[in-house]
Amino acid sequence: MPIWRPYTPHYEGAPLPPNIVRAQGSYLYAADGRVFWDGVSAWWVTIHGHSHPYIAEAIAHQARILDQVLFADFTHPKAEAVAEELNRLTGLPWVFFSDDGSTAVEVALKVALQYFRNQGQPRHRILALEGAYHGDTFGAMSVSARTTFTEAFSDYLFEVEWLPFPTDEDALEAALHSISSRQDIAAFIGEPLLQGTAGMRVYSSRHWDAIARTVRATGALVIADEVFTGFGRTGTLFATDQCQEKPDILCLSKGLTGGFLPMGLTLTSEKVFSAFYSAQREKVLYHGHSYTGNAIASAAALANLELWRLDETWQQLRRLTHVQMELAQQWQVQYPHIPVRQIGLVLAIELPDEEGYFSAHRTALKAYAMERGVFLRPLGNVAYSLPALSSQPSELRRVVEIIESYLAKVGLK
Ligand SMILES: Cc1ncc(COP(=O)(O)O)c(C=O)c1O
Repeated sequence: MPIWRPYTPHYEGAPLPPNIVRAQGSYLYAADGRVFWDGVSAWWVTIHGHSHPYIAEAIAHQARILDQVLFADFTHPKAEAVAEELNRLTGLPWVFFSDDGSTAVEVALKVALQYFRNQGQPRHRILALEGAYHGDTFGAMSVSARTTFTEAFSDYLFEVEWLPFPTDEDALEAALHSISSRQDIAAFIGEPLLQGTAGMRVYSSRHWDAIARTVRATGALVIADEVFTGFGRTGTLFATDQCQEKPDILCLSKGLTGGFLPMGLTLTSEKVFSAFYSAQREKVLYHGHSYTGNAIASAAALANLELWRLDETWQQLRRLTHVQMELAQQWQVQYPHIPVRQIGLVLAIELPDEEGYFSAHRTALKAYAMERGVFLRPLGNVAYSLPALSSQPSELRRVVEIIESYLAKVGLK
């Protein structure tokens, strides 16, 4: 099979992936007849369920009337409607379109740096949170934790200053104190309330607010990377809906199109945009991609946003969030020595293993769950489920049962 797959070791005898020919709701159907409940929402993108008919129809309709138009010279109704709806939902008036989560982050970083340059007061420092993951392009890698993922490129990444993960309150407080009089910080970038790739690490809105407030007091910009946390994952539409401090720049992607098509957005405040509001050519943001503002992806994004206007979407989010919360509480009582974390739709269980991301549980539990018709993709020793809204409470319970029986099998329970 001539396909070089992402994040996948290729070697003689490596297992071949199932060939998925159909996906519906929360289920993936393979050519060989196997069926998997998708516990990962297709790398955190699927929101309302696979092949949701409303979004599928919006895409089909759009493909027949307008596919793509060069976005530097033209606009189109679907992109405008997406921008307007997001203005209403976030309070951020300017929307820059790109292709995926990494490009949404690249744009955010470029905007932040050029914002200061355009005002004749260049600032060069970016702050990020320990353990962060913001994507795989060079800027996004630079503001992400230095791990095995980034090792081969470490000489080419720009330097970033790291704030301690907020569970270490004293360290965070000391770090915030030490930056409070700095004049060289351009921006802080962080995943609000929930670091996904780091192992579903949760922190409180109080800490996000403390960081954002301190950063902003230095004159720097606050960038919220809601590529993962956006569209209901943490129980609210955006994680920053639970925070007092709103971002100057917001990155969206993944669930933006309901999980149908790639699209990234970088939203900014009026203050940020105003530094680019000029006929001077050096003040222009020179960034764009061939598919920027794609009309079919925009139609999918608009359909997703329309589904978020329905009461039933919110009821289902609350219902599944409640189930995950109950499961977490039960787990905590039953297995107090095995940490569990829950926020919104995310339930994560940290299996005992020093190896972290390269824990053997990653492949062993994944195979064990797949044999039982459930697709999980543990982040090393962190097993988690992130269901689409098409899921049933019984399916969430089944994930926990599978993890329990796996732990019994390997003698960890
Ligand atoms: C918080 C966050 N930011 C950015 C990205 C990168 O998004 P993409 O994979 O679409 O480039 C991810 C991907 O997992 C993410 O979790």
